[in-house]
Amino acid sequence: MKILERSKVSIRYSDKPVGAEILGVDLSGNIDETTFSTIERVFNENGMIFFRNQNLTPDAQIRFSRRFGELEQHVRQEYALPGYPEIHLISNVKEGERSIGSAYAGDAWHTDLCFMKQPSRCSLLYALEVPVKDGKVLGSTEFASTQYAYDTLPEEMKRKIAMLQGIQQYHRRQEIKRKERMKDHARPELTAEQKAMTPDITQPVVRTHPHTGRKCLYVNETYTFGISGMPEDEAQPLLKSLSDHVTRPEYVYRHQWQVGDLIMWDNCSTQHCAITDYALPQRRLMHRTAIKGSVPF
Ligand code: SIN
Repeated sequence: MKILERSKVSIRYSDKPVGAEILGVDLSGNIDETTFSTIERVFNENGMIFFRNQNLTPDAQIRFSRRFGELEQHVRQEYALPGYPEIHLISNVKEGERSIGSAYAGDAWHTDLCFMKQPSRCSLLYALEVPVKDGKVLGSTEFASTQYAYDTLPEEMKRKIAMLQGIQQYHRRQEIKRKERMKDHARPELTAEQKAMTPDITQPVVRTHPHTGRKCLYVNETYTFGISGMPEDEAQPLLKSLSDHVTRPEYVYRHQWQVGDLIMWDNCSTQHCAITDYALPQRRLMHRTAIKGSVPF
């Protein structure tokens, strides 16, 4: 880890192609323009940043999130924090038989909302409860850089995939997840309205980052089920090899959560995966906000 001083803010970079800790900022306070532009620059450069020891009310999280753009509301409003449609609960905590949040969300590599025409620019996750068992912290989240992945592809592969479109399927994944979690954290089936908001769509396999101009690999093992116009027996091995390339273990940053952490990640230049090595009575509770992004190109 190397530390750089930039005004009163300091930055501790991870030794992976993704991830940096920003120190010296209280996100619940007023963040001046200079500090904010440092935060945004480090975020765009690194794809994932985090802040420790924060104390954020829902309103304060929304206020900070808004600095990055317009907030969006998750399709699954049944998991919104009551009174806050912009805050999506990620949690295995139950009230009676019902999970209060989306339980074990994101437990395979993915990028948020790649199945929407305008996927979110970034997501912000704030930790209120972190599972611990026998002194061991569980429920970490892993991050990988899709721009590093693109940069390190052989030139021949870059040419091959340059114009391809990946097929993103939200319903299909939700149905798989619903069946997997039927016994412990049953999710309701998507309503007709939720389905209408999330039809299958295609997105470029190679996406240009709207802020940095860097190219990023934009397929993932959770939502990308095919490649437009390519036979299955050709598309499946190609998708697997691209997804595996993004998430090569030696380039993955694993974040061990502490209560009070706020992490934010870029949904173009990174993928993430939540590690589900915990179960009740170990509780995990996170508040997530997401910022609208642009149409991928
Ligand atoms: C997500 O994929 O948005 C959730 C990640 C996590 O809970 O660690």
